[in-house]
Amino acid sequence: MADISPCAAVDDAFYQPADTFFPAQQGVALTYDDVTLATQYSEILPRDASLETTLAERLHLPIPIISADMDTVTESRMAIAMALNGGLGLIHYNMPERQQLSEVTRVKYHVHGLIQEPIKVSPEQFIGDVLALIEERHFSFSTFPIVDSGDRLLGLLPGHVVRPRYATRKVSEAMMPRASVQTIPERELHPDPIGRADKFFNEHIGIHKLLVVDDEDRLRGLFTLSDIERITQEKAAPLKPGRDSQFRLVCGAAVSATRDSSGQLDQGRIVRHVGALVERGVDVIAISTAHGFSKGVGEAVKLLRDAYPELPIIAGNVTSASAVEYLARCGANAIKVGQGPGSICTTRIVAGVGIPQLTALYVCGKAAREAGVAIIADGGISKSGDIVKALALSHAVICGGLLAGCPEAPGQIMEINGKLYKQYRGMGSPAAMKAGSAARYGHSKDTTRKVAAEGVEALKEVSASLDSVMTQLVGGLQSGMGYLGAANLEALRERARFARITPAGQRESAPHDIVEVKTGASGN
Ligand code: XMP
Repeated sequence: MADISPCAAVDDAFYQPADTFFPAQQGVALTYDDVTLATQYSEILPRDASLETTLAERLHLPIPIISADMDTVTESRMAIAMALNGGLGLIHYNMPERQQLSEVTRVKYHVHGLIQEPIKVSPEQFIGDVLALIEERHFSFSTFPIVDSGDRLLGLLPGHVVRPRYATRKVSEAMMPRASVQTIPERELHPDPIGRADKFFNEHIGIHKLLVVDDEDRLRGLFTLSDIERITQEKAAPLKPGRDSQFRLVCGAAVSATRDSSGQLDQGRIVRHVGALVERGVDVIAISTAHGFSKGVGEAVKLLRDAYPELPIIAGNVTSASAVEYLARCGANAIKVGQGPGSICTTRIVAGVGIPQLTALYVCGKAAREAGVAIIADGGISKSGDIVKALALSHAVICGGLLAGCPEAPGQIMEINGKLYKQYRGMGSPAAMKAGSAARYGHSKDTTRKVAAEGVEALKEVSASLDSVMTQLVGGLQSGMGYLGAANLEALRERARFARITPAGQRESAPHDIVEVKTGASGN
């Protein structure tokens, strides 16, 4: 072993690496507020700290933050916002399977350069019909390609003629004819469609839409100048959105280990549904259950691993090394750790089980390293400092309550005594279980629903937009990495030094002995 200075030896004795610290606490389970991290010599500016993480060979995220697969947290709007911020959204499963497919499709087709199925109109329609379509579908644009019944391009309906004044006129009377419409052959797009479209817009001042046609002049897609500008700006940004190899936003979906009426794993249904998700471009599926160290979850993971060898699979939830080993052997790439830490969870109260999060992460992490899988800290994160502590022992975090108040989360805003709130409920709460059962089985056939609820229904105060919440969380995480001199997440895991704190230390850690007039945005 290399010599260390006496001062470094003092530090090492009091501020210990995980492999010294946690074994010394054997028999006691600790969570985020029980520990603090020691600062280290640093040459790292927080903004330069890389947050990239790998959860599977085919799943890399620019930011290690995932929104929870809960029906009051992640549907397509949240998943789009998460991916645009570099993270990942897991679309929940408390909805009919077909609806989950369309939610994933919405994410995958959100601004990825070429709009492959542009909204088209026919020359026989009236401008009034087009106005009604815009209103009904809430379109934010009013320029439409015009095609015949065989999808052949006939012209373009420019936005400036789509006005109530012309409602009774036919589209054919107002359209720009085919000969004047700028198009590009589909075969010219490869290998760099965005670069090609960017070049076109540079060369054609004032044109904002570029139509793509095949050799028979059938409409194959549409580029808009604003999308291309957003994408080219994004390429230069330090924190990039999460995208797949085709430049589409990343998206995950949760699936349940559904059982048939006899209580057996419904293999056909699970494989069919996941197959449909894969066809829609899903990047990862999460088999989410309260007890991942179980026969049913293991069988479901194996089933899907065999059916889709390349598909990244997250499975959980667990809190033991044996459970990680089991799910990794079944074929999971990333394992969710967390039983009972969630802000809406009552598992520990109802069932008396579960392990405080940091100890669970350490124990699971030992097995994950052996098995070559990633672990994800799921639940109990209430401030950016918790994320830093979690990532000292894991590869990503899942947040529910922290994001449930954002406008991007599903659900209506309600006003109570002059304050604005959104609903946030546990997936094991009575109402969520009922909604999930209704979606998946119809009540009478659901043989798997638990008798005792393990989650509560709650409210979250409406927060700022996801963009600003993520900016705060990422800022806090990078700040922590700067204090630890960690240039990336691997270095954070290596350089973290833990010390246990007492209730007095916890009190000292938060604002105290003052009259607070403004609360810190991310609670730290
Ligand atoms: P946070 O603390 O971020 O936790 O709000 C979100 C995580 O909590 C888990 N979850 C539950 N756990 N009963 C539980 O014991 C429930 O009803 C429940 N619903 C969600 C889940 O892991 C989620 O990501």
